[in-house]
Amino acid sequence: MRVKVGGEVKEFRTIWREGRLVHMIDQRKLPHKFEIVSTWRHEETAEAIRSMIVRGAGAIGVAAAYGMAQAALEAEELKEDIRTYLESAATLLRRTRPTAVNLFHSIDRCLRAAEGHLENPVMSVLSEADAIAEEDLEASRRIGEFGNPLIPDGARILTHCNAGALAFIDYGTALSPIRLAHQQGKRILVLVDETRPRLQGAMLTAWELEQEGIPYAVIVDNAAGYYMRRGEVDMVIVGADRVALNGDFANKIGTYEKAVLAAENGIPFYVAAPKMTFDPNCKDGDHIELEERSEEEVRYIYGLNEVGELSRILIMGKDTPVRNPSFDITPARYVTGFITENGVLRPPYSETIPRFLGLKG
Ligand code: MRU
Repeated sequence: MRVKVGGEVKEFRTIWREGRLVHMIDQRKLPHKFEIVSTWRHEETAEAIRSMIVRGAGAIGVAAAYGMAQAALEAEELKEDIRTYLESAATLLRRTRPTAVNLFHSIDRCLRAAEGHLENPVMSVLSEADAIAEEDLEASRRIGEFGNPLIPDGARILTHCNAGALAFIDYGTALSPIRLAHQQGKRILVLVDETRPRLQGAMLTAWELEQEGIPYAVIVDNAAGYYMRRGEVDMVIVGADRVALNGDFANKIGTYEKAVLAAENGIPFYVAAPKMTFDPNCKDGDHIELEERSEEEVRYIYGLNEVGELSRILIMGKDTPVRNPSFDITPARYVTGFITENGVLRPPYSETIPRFLGLKG
């Protein structure tokens, strides 16, 4: 992605690897500060996933793969048994965040890579981790190509959370077709749900659209129905953290109500997601684990204070009881289509998804 830093425009990936060093854009600080965090050990990378320095299904999948690459190099340096060391790194990385299946697919692929190449398991894990990153990039790019024709000139598109370049290596999923439509000269407007409590829409999606010069406006989460009923939303495109075999999917809390509102108002509702976000072992949305995050995320808001310092502000009583589910399930019946790297999947999803995953002839 192109980022304006210090008056210059530079190309960045969300996360990248240089030997054992893993670098990532610090997503807790955008749009106020553009900073890179680097990790040396897999434990630090796991902590970066848990604390959401890196977030978004694709990006945490790649982060987990790079964490496994670090673990392989650590085992070599410490002369530890590689299998035992990788298994324990996998356990730690799996415990960071439960919902996005990309993370679990990545870890399993790295473990299989080590098993499959006993003569040089370290090299094998490194090249598998790099392959996961390149596939993520290519899938996002292709999602843009398949999604762009669905966007008419003049479209007003609603999106939720951040399914942009920052949620992957680059391009994003929901934002990938939007980028391409804009590059091709279509006049579009993106309505960005702010996405409480962590404000990924207001902080990250808005920042990405700003970098690209794509017209947008941030709206409060409660305003989506208002705009839909007035006929000011032509389509919704969101990402996903895990898609079940029947087409039910998990995404950022608030996605479900946007889908219901879109159906009520006759607005097409698309989900953009690569194969790595589909879970062949999950038959429906009732079998997806949904993360609950800390109460502090709801009680405090994070941003720049009046003197320009990043700070936390308590917005309710410090002991006010709160709940903080991070994801919800949207039933398949609300999805107009899944935009994937192989094309747009349409209902009936219990047939088209298994076929897409190569599980049915
Ligand atoms: O908690 P986050 O910010 O990691 O949640 C991310 C989302 O819900 C995105 O919409 C999702 O990952 C889809 S795009 C990868």
